Amino acid sequence: MKSLKIVTYPDNFLRQPTKPVENINGELQDFIERMAVTMYGASGAGLAAIQVGYDKSIIIYDAFPTDPEKQCLEVLINPKIIAAEGSRVSEQEGCLSVPDFRADVKRSVAVLAEGMDRKGKPVRIETDDFLMAVVLQHEIDHLNGILFIDRISALKRELYKRRVKKHLRKK
Ligand code: NI
Repeated sequence: MKSLKIVTYPDNFLRQPTKPVENINGELQDFIERMAVTMYGASGAGLAAIQVGYDKSIIIYDAFPTDPEKQCLEVLINPKIIAAEGSRVSEQEGCLSVPDFRADVKRSVAVLAEGMDRKGKPVRIETDDFLMAVVLQHEIDHLNGILFIDRISALKRELYKRRVKKHLRKK
């Protein structure tokens, strides 16, 4: 199965709020498989459908994407964060849509999220595992058109924007 192309900053496609999934069918399962191939192929811990060109509310994630022994794909459809608490710095956060850049981001420590699994069954995920809490916040942000660089200091964001502009001019 082939990987999907990852949409990268500053593409405006990433900025739109996604639409809820209404039909959970075979086509959607195939798409989720392709998302997984894409995420694992890029050694990412999470991926939102909008990052691969599909404007629906789907996220996938895995706490151990590069460890074949521990790998476990999680899929959440139409997810929402219902509650969040605490505050801690997520160190050197990155994103497949923001290549070659990492920065510290302030995130909640524990979250409660709700959505559906890939079969359409309602699920509730409550976690105080910081890594998982960060992945959920990061991926659900994508569904609202938010990138982690929106949550860093204005100065750091400007530095990154300038770097991207320079790089695009060289192309
Ligand atoms: Ni991301």
